[in-house]
Amino acid sequence: MYDGGKIITGLLVFLILVTVPVWFNAATHAQARAPQLKLPEGATACVEPTAEMRATHMELLNRWRNAAVRSDERFFTMPDGKVYEKSLSLTCLKCHDNKEEFCDRCHNYLAVSPYCWDCHVEPKGGRS
Ligand code: HEC
Ligand code: HEC
Ligand code: HEC
Repeated sequence: MYDGGKIITGLLVFLILVTVPVWFNAATHAQARAPQLKLPEGATACVEPTAEMRATHMELLNRWRNAAVRSDERFFTMPDGKVYEKSLSLTCLKCHDNKEEFCDRCHNYLAVSPYCWDCHVEPKGGRS
């Protein structure tokens, strides 16, 4: 009644099929890839440590806006003595001048769309 050979072959085929993605990934080293960001070429450090920037740049921008607009505190000094203006277009986008391949690339990947550019100037053109 039972055909042991066929059952085992069937099970084997089934096993191979359901594990194809695993083999495929192992063979191609495929991973869910984070977006490739274009970092500024002329600078090595951001205004705060990178990990902090990644996680909290929106809060930093909010603080800058409030300080600049409400208290007219428009400058801040980094620990190394460098002075920056608290400005979205004049500071962040001066270093990160390739908005498309930096801010936008990450935001698109994460489906975030800041409305800042309704008013603030964004750099145009294919600068890299
Ligand atoms: C409705 C228009 C509008 C929108 C939208 C807007 N801003 Fe502004 N923002 C202004 C104006 C006006 C000033 C005051 C400009 C000044 O005094 O230099 C300002 C100032 C600022 C400043 C300080 C000055 C400077 O040069 O940047 C920051 C930082 C800032 N905004 C961040 C943001 C961020 C971040 C967003 C998006 C989350 C945003 N703003 C959205 C109108 C806007
Ligand atoms: C002096 C140039 C400079 C300024 C000004 C600057 N950045 Fe950066 N930023 C950098 C550099 C360089 C890196 C990458 C640092 C590294 O490789 O660790 C970076 C990293 C970042 C990251 C993390 C990227 C990642 O790899 O996840 C974010 C987010 C960011 N910046 C946003 C901003 C915002 C928002 C502003 C304005 C408030 C700003 N930056 C101002 C140079 C700058
Ligand atoms: C490494 C990824 C990454 C990069 C690079 C990045 N952002 Fe963001 N940004 C995020 C994430 C994630 C959020 C949403 C956080 C949340 O919703 O809590 C965000 C949110 C924001 C917000 C607040 C939007 C809102 O509606 O609340 C602003 C403003 C902003 N980013 C500005 C910038 C600017 C300007 C740059 C380029 C200089 C930049 N970001 C680069 C990941 C990134």
